[in-house]
Amino acid sequence: MYVLGIESSCDETSASIVSDKKEILSNVIYSQIKEHESFLGVVPEIAARAHLEKIDKVFKKALQDANISGEEIDAVAATSGPGLIGGLIVGSTFAKTISWLYKVPFIAINHIEAHALCARLTENINFPYLLMLMSGGHCQICIVHSPSDIEVIGKTLDDSVGEAFDKVAKMLNLGYPGGPQVEKFAKRGDSKKFDLPKPLCTNFSCDFSFSGLKTATRIISENIKSDQGKYDLCASFQQTVVDVFKYKIKSAIKFAKKQGINISSIVIAGGVASNTSVRTAIKEISIQNNLPFFSPPVHLCTDNAAMIAWLGVEKLKMNETSSLDFSPRPKWPFEHKISI
Ligand code: KG4
Ligand code: ZN
Repeated sequence: MYVLGIESSCDETSASIVSDKKEILSNVIYSQIKEHESFLGVVPEIAARAHLEKIDKVFKKALQDANISGEEIDAVAATSGPGLIGGLIVGSTFAKTISWLYKVPFIAINHIEAHALCARLTENINFPYLLMLMSGGHCQICIVHSPSDIEVIGKTLDDSVGEAFDKVAKMLNLGYPGGPQVEKFAKRGDSKKFDLPKPLCTNFSCDFSFSGLKTATRIISENIKSDQGKYDLCASFQQTVVDVFKYKIKSAIKFAKKQGINISSIVIAGGVASNTSVRTAIKEISIQNNLPFFSPPVHLCTDNAAMIAWLGVEKLKMNETSSLDFSPRPKWPFEHKISI
């Protein structure tokens, strides 16, 4: 079975063919970095136009790379929220057209759920697992019971972690996209140079807050003139985020134990999961707790259509398809219970 995935929720236009045998036959990603970099962030209108311009080329290339024809597609899965509405309309309308043309099911995909399930595409991971989701728009700890039952046990009360990385990059003028730049600068800095706050790290809660950390970093950044100062501030900021994650993962493991939930493993996902210090720290906690650690390969952590196609495969197996009337949702929260 072949599922076509389409991703267009932010600044990547991507199409991928994934099989139910976990083969990624193609994963074509057109990144709009060049279109947005002079603005130091994503401009929604420019993003929508770029998706419209590229989507059919990216789709054709995905078929070509996979060496299959359109007639061989068994279903079309497209990100239908959350995200920037212009891009969501372009991607989901394109997918619905393919679905109508080849008379195959359309599957509306929640982008965040796709990040959450992505590690199962490359690894054999059993439910339930503990998921630390860290992207540009979200920061959540979840227990993934099944593809359609994701229990959120902690979430950010203000900014997402990716947003905090991006804002630190902006205040230090490091360019766009911010996260990878902060990581690059952090490699040359002293992580103990600045003592930054670690919000909500005293009460065993699994919730996050990054706005205070961001403000504290901003105040220090105003007096930084040298490159070494920037390296040190990036290193201190990144280390603080790592410490917060370590604390939160430990709290989440305790929570799962207390609830009698026997988690199989710890999984990380989302763009910030491509950060080496973050990956290493969470892996250490997993080892200390005798839990296997899984993370999608770096190119599947950031936005891509293979994760969309894969969730399409999982949903198709459960007969969860969508109507062509499905309207894209710029906001599409998890509709699952929140335990804490
Ligand atoms: O999951 P993603 O590609 O898009 C969303 O769904 O939001 O995540 C993008 C976020 C951005 O905030 C970006 O700066 C951050 O992930 N990011 C990183 C790294 N690579 C991407 N943050 C820290 N270190 C990285 N290496
Ligand atoms: Zn994403």
